[in-house]
Amino acid sequence: MRIEILGSSAGGGLPQFNCNCNNCKGYREGKKSIKRRTQSSITISEDGENWVLFNTSPDILEQIHNSSFLHPTKPRETKIKAIIFIDAQIDHTTGLLMLREGCPHEVYCTKEVNEELNTSFPLFKMLEHWDGGGTIYNEIIPNSKSFELPIMPNHEFYALPLISNAPPYSKYRDKPRSGDNIGIVVKNKLTGKKLFYLPGLGVLEKHIIKEMSQADILLVDGTLWTNDEMIKNGFSQKLGTDMGHIPLSGEHGLIKILDTLDKPRKILIHINNTNPILDETSKEYTELISHDIEISYDGMSIEI
Ligand code: MLT
Ligand code: MN
Ligand code: ZN
Repeated sequence: MRIEILGSSAGGGLPQFNCNCNNCKGYREGKKSIKRRTQSSITISEDGENWVLFNTSPDILEQIHNSSFLHPTKPRETKIKAIIFIDAQIDHTTGLLMLREGCPHEVYCTKEVNEELNTSFPLFKMLEHWDGGGTIYNEIIPNSKSFELPIMPNHEFYALPLISNAPPYSKYRDKPRSGDNIGIVVKNKLTGKKLFYLPGLGVLEKHIIKEMSQADILLVDGTLWTNDEMIKNGFSQKLGTDMGHIPLSGEHGLIKILDTLDKPRKILIHINNTNPILDETSKEYTELISHDIEISYDGMSIEI
């Protein structure tokens, strides 16, 4: 399986249009130790020809433009044959509107996410008006048996509900339901190798840690370094955990748990532009790297 990181940043990207934090400012000033990053998305493929997209970032057009393997080779064609949504957050869904010329899209999501995308943020409904007619909904049932996608016959997929948060626009904000946020495991049926993708993780539950320990490639929520990072910088009143993102550092942070896992290659994704690890000259970057944890970047390619 080939895994391509299309976007490694959390909502807003880096630089974020209205942000002058150390990283956004540093990037604009040309600091070489800070990379530009688009918003959270990956794509995977078994044959290098047909791709499963995870999330449709607001930056999807730029991401496709920068990824020659996704370019059409017929007069009209998309190499994206299926789209999996792990939640209904704006940074994970808005780009679907930019793909409207390619309707209908095969979409895979939980019934909770399907509800949001037909009601509060009705992308699926809106797309019904375009050529080809909207989306074809395939329900993902978390904690259930695995499902398969015809374009990746040697792989199986399964979903785990994650404790995170519903989108800020949702009536379920701060009272998320099981199914509002999921992590996805993709397992090669021949080799047993596993990818575990979980960009929105608010609580480190035991069974999630167990699943992480069995993965070969872990692409995990790296949103914030400290829980009060947004408050300290004067950007928000919310803690990371209020938003559904566990911080990396500290006694109860993600790094402590990642340190206990031997098997996986540990890679952070969905990293907020305020996170000091995004400047390779920072002490936090040096600390992170000393734990054998990688930071994904736009254009990163992984093979398992
Ligand atoms: C999140 O990850 O918490 C959300 O994407 C926030 C947002 O809407 O930007
Ligand atoms: Mn997000
Ligand atoms: Zn910023």
